[in-house]
Amino acid sequence: MQTLPGFRDFLPEECAKRNYIFARWREVARRYGFVEWEGPPLEPTELYKKKSGDEIVEQLFNFTDKGEREVALRPELTPTLARVVALHEREFKKPLKWFSIGQFFRYEKQQRGRLREHFQLNCDIIGESDLTADIELVALGIDVLRAFGFTEKDFAVRISDREFWTDFLREKDVPSDRWGEFLQAIDKFGREPREKTAEKLGNLADAVFATLKSGGKSAKLEALVDSLRARGLADFVEIDVGIVRGLAYYTGIVFEVFDRAGKFRALAGGGRYDNLIGQLSDGAVSLPALGFAMGDVVLGELISTIPGAHDAMQKSMATDRKIDIYVVIAKEERRADALVQIQQLRDCGYRVDYPFTPTKVARQFQTAEELGARVALLFGDEWPQVKIKNMATAEQELVPHDRLLAHLKAQSSLSS
Ligand code: HAM
Repeated sequence: MQTLPGFRDFLPEECAKRNYIFARWREVARRYGFVEWEGPPLEPTELYKKKSGDEIVEQLFNFTDKGEREVALRPELTPTLARVVALHEREFKKPLKWFSIGQFFRYEKQQRGRLREHFQLNCDIIGESDLTADIELVALGIDVLRAFGFTEKDFAVRISDREFWTDFLREKDVPSDRWGEFLQAIDKFGREPREKTAEKLGNLADAVFATLKSGGKSAKLEALVDSLRARGLADFVEIDVGIVRGLAYYTGIVFEVFDRAGKFRALAGGGRYDNLIGQLSDGAVSLPALGFAMGDVVLGELISTIPGAHDAMQKSMATDRKIDIYVVIAKEERRADALVQIQQLRDCGYRVDYPFTPTKVARQFQTAEELGARVALLFGDEWPQVKIKNMATAEQELVPHDRLLAHLKAQSSLSS
């Protein structure tokens, strides 16, 4: 039996990598004062049909449940967040700064960097319309990636503003109900044949292509970059009006993060969606909002190609994998005594392992070494004393068993 296409088994090594990614995500989000929340993995299909846009609706894993409800595995978190905020808005002081780490499902064609399940870090700010919130969000995205050891040579945040394009379309007298269609076409520029984009843009094609080529100008985007410059982060960003984002609900600043070498799909994407909460709550609650999501798949690939990031991950994983103490049972008569100590050591928080069945002493020391134990405790002929072996220096000492715990606690190499 194989996994379904686009799904992964997380064996211990992959789980350790995933936990490393989650730990960095959580650490930096908290550094920015974001608090963690979570929504359900299954939602009414309607939630996505209402506002995410056609592309994501085509990719839904959806079905009718046993209660005849139309449901879908979540392809993204933003509609859930908008629903939750509309429901609980009064319980919280604004602005909300919320983050979440969870699994998402999209029925996409499996390809490099795109699977049918993936994990995302979502960071969103609700209830703040000032540009300072957009700047803070971009800075957070940059710092999350810096926490993995990436530099400005490894990735860039490409920033744009949907208002730049909606102003353009307004100027060209395009009715607002057709803006979505045009924005989708601009979003696909570069990813589909030029003629196809030109066909979609009709008589605006030349003007759009010229603007994309010249880069356009936006005071708002320049203010954003200036402010990031003051934080020392300007080298991580580029203004790129070609970034429009595929999702329908964005209204203002939008951005995507790419590797500089251009090898991979987007690492992260997000932007402002000031109308979504109002639209999903039928006008009951109206709050400006912005956020981004970063996926684990492309991030994992980028980590493995950048030596500094890869080494940092391996080092952290090796430390995390290690146990503190291996108990060597040299004489089976001592097993019961050893287990009393093991229980006490584990109660104190030490990571302790031992052999389940009688095993040669040399094999036990070998296991201690393989598991990265800092000390081995030998329960054998020396009883009621226990032999402590420092695995790094091979130094040994004898300690009475009733003083073992105090003795180990006093050893700096074991105090965590
Ligand atoms: P998105 O651009 O659709 O945005 O996804 C964000 C990130 O999730 C992508 O940049 C990518 O790293 C990862 N991702 C998406 N689909 C897949 C896939 N099939 N396989 C692997 N990774 C994938 C959103 O989802 C928005 N809801 C983000 C947001 C949050 N906007 C505001 N707040």
